[in-house]
Amino acid sequence: MSLHSHWSTATDKIFIKKIYDNIGSYINQGTILDLGVEDYNFNCNEFIDNNSIEYWQLEPNRVCENNDGFFNCTVQECLEMYPGNENKFDSILDFGVLGWNGIRFSQKEQEKYVTTILKLLKPGGLYILHGDRVEVDMEYKINIDKFISPNFELVSVMGFKSHEIIECPRWGTVWDIRFFKKNIKI
Ligand SMILES: C[S@@+](CC[C@H](N)C(=O)[O-])C[C@H]1O[C@@H](n2cnc3c(N)ncnc32)[C@H](O)[C@@H]1O
Repeated sequence: MSLHSHWSTATDKIFIKKIYDNIGSYINQGTILDLGVEDYNFNCNEFIDNNSIEYWQLEPNRVCENNDGFFNCTVQECLEMYPGNENKFDSILDFGVLGWNGIRFSQKEQEKYVTTILKLLKPGGLYILHGDRVEVDMEYKINIDKFISPNFELVSVMGFKSHEIIECPRWGTVWDIRFFKKNIKI
């Protein structure tokens, strides 16, 4: 499939592509899980320029074949549908799923979602969360302090700050990208 144009035109996609370009040498050897697959995500396997990386994807609503493994389910139901994948991943890329206002996870769903992320990740694994700031209802705002911070540490990796803030110069949309490392002792 040809390269989708927004990888070089959309402010947040340009930033996210830099993560794909760098994560292969950062993880070096290991397994990555990418959450939420749209047609443009077909290109992501090629962005990770390292044959020693296994690149998995997860998506409930459609399939994508350009990966080394695929979970056809939501994050929340992943380990019930695909048991035995605990502590499998060195990194989980959460670009526009938990943090995207188009889905809206209740507090209860957020708890289940983050608990599953925690189980899928190896100790010391890297969880990268990218989201927008559109949500105002506290029931659906991502509760980082309650669900993520207790078991993760913000880290600066691959030349990125632990918390990057990017803004679209045209529309003023703001996105946060946070780099979380799962605590070793859990
Ligand atoms: C805005 S897209 C993000 C796609 C991609 N990760 C990116 O970088 O742009 C959100 C995706 O999450 C999927 N999705 C919706 N609910 C989900 C859930 N509970 N768990 C995992 N993925 C979900 C949607 O089907 C959609 O493909």
